[in-house]
Amino acid sequence: MALEDKVVYQIYPKSFCDADGDGWGDIQGVISKLDYLQKLGINCIWFNPMTVSPQKDNGYDVADYRKFDPRYGTMEDFEQLSEECHKRGISIMFDMVFNHTSTAHEWFQKALAGDEKYKNYYYFRKGKGPGVPPNNWQSKFGGPAWEYVPQFDEWYLHLFDVSQADLNWTNPEVRQECADIVNFWRSKGVHGFRFDVINEIGKWSFEDDPNNFDGRQFYTDGPMEHAYLKELNEKSFGQDPDHITVGEMSSTTIEKCAGYAGRNSHELDMVFSFHHLKVDYKNQKKWELQPFDFMELKRLLTEWQIGMQKADAWNALFWNCHDQPRSVSRFGDDKKYRKESAKMLATAIQMLRGTPYIYMGEEIGMPNADFTSLDQYRDVESINAFHIMEQEGKSEEEIYHILQERSRDNARTPMPWDDSANAGFTTGTPWIQAADHYKTINVKNDLSDPDGIFAYYQKLIQMRKTMPVVQTGLFQPLLEDHPSIFAYERVLGNEKMIVLNNFYGKEAGCDIDADGMHVFLSNYADTEAQNHMVLRPYESVILYNR
Ligand code: GLC
Repeated sequence: MALEDKVVYQIYPKSFCDADGDGWGDIQGVISKLDYLQKLGINCIWFNPMTVSPQKDNGYDVADYRKFDPRYGTMEDFEQLSEECHKRGISIMFDMVFNHTSTAHEWFQKALAGDEKYKNYYYFRKGKGPGVPPNNWQSKFGGPAWEYVPQFDEWYLHLFDVSQADLNWTNPEVRQECADIVNFWRSKGVHGFRFDVINEIGKWSFEDDPNNFDGRQFYTDGPMEHAYLKELNEKSFGQDPDHITVGEMSSTTIEKCAGYAGRNSHELDMVFSFHHLKVDYKNQKKWELQPFDFMELKRLLTEWQIGMQKADAWNALFWNCHDQPRSVSRFGDDKKYRKESAKMLATAIQMLRGTPYIYMGEEIGMPNADFTSLDQYRDVESINAFHIMEQEGKSEEEIYHILQERSRDNARTPMPWDDSANAGFTTGTPWIQAADHYKTINVKNDLSDPDGIFAYYQKLIQMRKTMPVVQTGLFQPLLEDHPSIFAYERVLGNEKMIVLNNFYGKEAGCDIDADGMHVFLSNYADTEAQNHMVLRPYESVILYNR
């Protein structure tokens, strides 16, 4: 599939639009907003999982891979969605959660009943002694990564929640099941697939983590990973010339990703990597705050651009998703310069080489949720983290502050359509409260502003869809040592584009070669192309020589 002109919009279905008033977003709600998405200009939608699930991890605990949770709708609703998307030139990407299943899944239930075939779908292991798990790995959501099953006197592995049991990919039957699931959705007309934490499937050793941590060095990018991906490709989506696939890759390297997403690798089309979204982690720890390290952010984005380009491999470009706090609050200024910084961030990421992903609400500059009490939170990771930090002796005030900065629920509050009750998301009681700022920051308001963020996103998206230099131009960094501007150029033949982004609320000067260049797009009205540019707070400029 040609990736160059794709722009993906991510919908967190539970929070997007609720058509039937039960407080949950649903497929009919999405259908009612397709004109909005068409107007934005995107050409693919990634949906977070909508299949049957106990919702311990909001659908990433899958209990049936082939059936929609009725709260989202039915297969008929999906067929209607698919048809309506098709009419608008929008393709559909589904989320495949193959590292683990819910413990409510039939396979796990059969395993628990003692069926050896299904026990071998998972990792059951003897403990080191009475009450002692097989190793010291910690779950990513807190606590040990093993759960004891008394009837077997064995433990099962769960890298995430205790209700998410890890699948045993060394078992060929498991691999075949996963390919069959992809093929099932292909038969329903789905061409896009996002593979959840897919570089964690190849566990190769169960020894203790010497750092007393999550054991990631024994399952990330395992020696069989490439083989597993090639097999999945060959048996399923690789048979579809129109496929578009992305793998979520945690804690990985450019070298590995170049292999996963190389043009001729026959594995995946592109990868999400997360290093650039850890530059505000103190000591590499998610729940420890520090201001974001701008030089490190630049260095990482640049290194990945160059590394993947050299290897002829493809990046997914993103600031936001359902697992990350909102970028405008994180890297911008969500108060004084919300509009400017939201547009700047969009420019900085979307003009890079790769495929941009826009997370719902980003296109109107939605900030963090700013919840102030634990009962507003729904995310299992955040709630566990709250209790762990409490045990560590942190004050409540400090913990709330950390959650306000880091919780995944910052991204999961209802899409604010207007300023009516519950942000126009539902007529019922929303499963998670709308963030207070919906009264001013909402789609209706932004669309009525000719200088709105949505209107700016439309322009960036059009550029991606129509300009070869944006699609395939060579990436080259500029002003690498500049302390507040992230700058680069894209070059294709004698076409050239320079992209300058001021990441701070203060003016910043720089010298560039602007001869023959003019301003193509900026988030300020009166920017001019000059050899010495002074960028205003959060100013972005795209210069072009055509
Ligand atoms: C991925 C998902 C996240 C989920 C986790 C476990 O990181 O994006 O939401 O909790 O995998 O499935």
